[in-house]
Amino acid sequence: MTKALDWENLGFSYMKLPYRYLAYYKDGQWQKGELTEDATLHISECSTSLHYGQQAFEGLKAYRTKDGSIQLFRPDQNAKRLQRTAERLMMAPVPEDMFIDACKQVVQANQDYVPPYGSGGTLYIRPLLLGIGDIIGVKPADEYIFTVFAMPVGNYFKGGLQPTNFLIQDDYDRAAPHGTGAAKVGGNYAGSFVPGQLAKERGFSDVIYLDPATHTKIEEVGSANFFGITADNEFITPLSPSILPSITKYSLLYLAEHRLGMKAIEGDIFLDDLDKFVEAGACGTAAVISPIGGVQHGDDLHVFYSETEVGPVTRRLYDELTGIQFGDVEAPDGWIVKVDEQ
Ligand code: PLP
Ligand code: COI
Repeated sequence: MTKALDWENLGFSYMKLPYRYLAYYKDGQWQKGELTEDATLHISECSTSLHYGQQAFEGLKAYRTKDGSIQLFRPDQNAKRLQRTAERLMMAPVPEDMFIDACKQVVQANQDYVPPYGSGGTLYIRPLLLGIGDIIGVKPADEYIFTVFAMPVGNYFKGGLQPTNFLIQDDYDRAAPHGTGAAKVGGNYAGSFVPGQLAKERGFSDVIYLDPATHTKIEEVGSANFFGITADNEFITPLSPSILPSITKYSLLYLAEHRLGMKAIEGDIFLDDLDKFVEAGACGTAAVISPIGGVQHGDDLHVFYSETEVGPVTRRLYDELTGIQFGDVEAPDGWIVKVDEQ
C-alpha cells in the first residue's frame, strides 16, 4: 500500500526509508550484498573515503507509471558512470548487474514510498561507493562499501518547470582542467558549497561555472548540465572533459534529434554567444529539466526566453523526457528497466 504522504509537496530532502542495500568488497572481491534496516554505516576512523575523498556516488530515479508499476530510467548508464568514476579514483568497480540488482532490490523493498503516478514525485536512488579500512598513507583502500538507499522527492529547484535565474561565477571553479570534474565524487560538491551559498543569498537557484582553463565558455551548473536552444532549431550543450557526463543530457541530445527533429550539438558555448539562445535550461536526474530564465554575469542579466514562462521547445523536451520516464511515451530501446513488485 502506498503511504499517505504529501506527495505533491515533497521537495528534495532526505527521508529514512525502511531498507537499504549494503555490500562489502574484501580480499579482492565483492561479497554478497543484502538489504538492511540499519541506516548507519560503521566504518574505520581511518577510511580513505573520510580522509582523502576516495568516494563516489550516483543518482537515478524510480518512476510510478499509470498502471501502477515501477520503472527505472537507464540504470545501466549510472552503473557505467560509477565504474568510470571508480577507475579515476582507483576504487573497486561495482559490476553492472550488481548495481542494477541493488537498485531494484531497494526500490522493491521500499515500494510503498514510490510516489503515485501524477503526483510529480519520484523515488530518488542514491548509490554510494566508499573506500574503507585502516589506511593512513595516501593510497587507495583495499576494502570498500557499496550501499544504495532511496527517498521520495519532488522538485530539486524551487520553480520546477517555472524558470529561475542562475549566477555565472568567475571567482570559483567547480573542477580543474584535468581534475575530477567528469567523475561523480563528493569533493566536486564540497567545493561548490561556498559559491552555491553566495548565489542563493542573492536569490539565484545555483551557480553556472565557466571552463576552468579560460573562463570564456559555459561549463555546467553545480548540480546539472546546461543546454541552450537557438532560433535555428539547434539543441546545444557544452562538450568539456571537466563536466559531469549527464545521462539526462545525453538522453536529451538523442530526443532533440530523433523525436523533435532538431540539430543536436555538443560543443563550445562561449559567453559572448549567449544572444543566439532563445531558450536555456539545466538538466539532470534531480533537476529533470529546469528552465533557466536568465543568467547574471557581473552587472548583466541575460534573459533567454522569459523570466516567468517556460519556452515551447524546453516544454516539448520536458514532455518527451518525462513521458518516457513515467511510461506514457514509447522509450528508445533499453532505456526503461521494470522493477518487479512483491
Ligand atoms: N552535473 C552535475 C554536477 C550533477 O551533479 C548532475 C547530477 O547527477 C548532473 C550534471 C546531471 O547528471 P545526470 O543527468 O546523469 O543526473
Ligand atoms: C543528481 O541529479 O542525481 C545529482 O546528483 C544532483 C545533486 C542532487 C547532487
